[in-house]
Amino acid sequence: MDSLSVRDIGDITMDNNGIIKKILELKEQRDAIILAHNYQEGPVQDVADLIGDSLELSRAAASLDGSVIVFCGVDFMAETAAILSPQKKVLLPAHDAGCPMAEMVTAAEVRSARERFPGAAVVAYVNTTAEVKAESDICCTSANAVKVVSSLEEDQVLFVPDRNLARYVARFTKKQVIPWEGYCIVHDMITVADVTLARQGHPGAEVIVHPECRPEVIDAADYVFSTSGMIRHVCEGEKPAYIIGTEIGILYRMQKECPGKSCYPLSDRAVCTNMKKTSLALVLQSLESLSPQVTVPEHVAHRARKAIDRMLAVK
Ligand code: 13P
Ligand code: SF4
Repeated sequence: MDSLSVRDIGDITMDNNGIIKKILELKEQRDAIILAHNYQEGPVQDVADLIGDSLELSRAAASLDGSVIVFCGVDFMAETAAILSPQKKVLLPAHDAGCPMAEMVTAAEVRSARERFPGAAVVAYVNTTAEVKAESDICCTSANAVKVVSSLEEDQVLFVPDRNLARYVARFTKKQVIPWEGYCIVHDMITVADVTLARQGHPGAEVIVHPECRPEVIDAADYVFSTSGMIRHVCEGEKPAYIIGTEIGILYRMQKECPGKSCYPLSDRAVCTNMKKTSLALVLQSLESLSPQVTVPEHVAHRARKAIDRMLAVK
C-alpha cells in the first residue's frame, strides 16, 4: 500500500456530516485540494485528499493540480507548499498552528554560524521558517535526512535546528555533523523509562521511534522511521504488535490502514498541541473565506525554493 493515502467520500465517517458535505462541495467549487499531516485529528484526516509525512506532502504540493491547497498541519508545512506552488493559494485553517522547534533557529543565527564554520554546508530540517531555508544550502525531512547529508560534497555539515535528528544522521555518515541545539518539545520528552514501561506493558511488541527522539531512546528502540515510514513498516511487518514513539495522532491512520496489527503509543504525553488546532469547522471556514492565506515574499521564497528543490532532487 502506498503510504500517501488517497481518500474518497466513501471513507468518511458520518459524524459531522453537514460540515463534511459542505467541505466536499466547496472543495470542488474552489478547485481545492486538502493535504493533512499524519498527526492530524481523525476527522480532518478523513476529509483530506492526501495524508502523509513532511516529504510526501512537500512533493504533493509541488506536483498536484488545483488552485487552492488547504494545509492541515503547521505553518512551516504551509509555507513550504506556498514556496513550491507560488501560483496556488495556500490556506492554513488554524492560523496559529506553529512548530516550536522551527522557532529555535533564526536566519540571522544561521548567517553568523556560517562565519564560524565557513567550510560547512548548512542543512535545514524542513521544520524551519522560510527565512532559515533561504539561508541554507539544502533542506531535508526525517525521511531523507541521511540521503541528503550523504549527497553533499562538504565534509562538514551544520544541521539546524534539531539536535536529535542531527545526531541520528551522524550515525550513518563519516561527515562531521554539527548539531544546532533545537529540539521537538514532543519527542524530546520521551524517555528510556517510557520504552521500558511500554515493553513491560506489551511484551513482544516492536518499538518504533521517530528520529526526533533523544539518542538514548533511539538506542532503546528496535526501529527508527519518519511518520509515513512507521505506517509502512507496521502495515508490512510480520509482528502482531507495535509500540509507536511519536505524536499519538499517527495511531488513527495506522490502525485504519494496518488491519490486524495492534499499535500502542510509547507515551500518552506525546501530543503536539499545534497539530491538534485544525478542526473540520476551521477547514470549512477556511474554504468559505479562502483564508487564512500563507504567503512568502518572493525575495525569500526564491532562495528557499532552491534549498527545497535541491532536496527534492536527491534520489
Ligand atoms: P515527518 O516528516 O516524519 O512526518 O515528521 C514531521 C514532524 O513534525 C515530526 O514531529
Ligand atoms: Fe513541531 Fe514537534 Fe509538533 Fe512536529 S511534533 S510539528 S516537530 S512541535
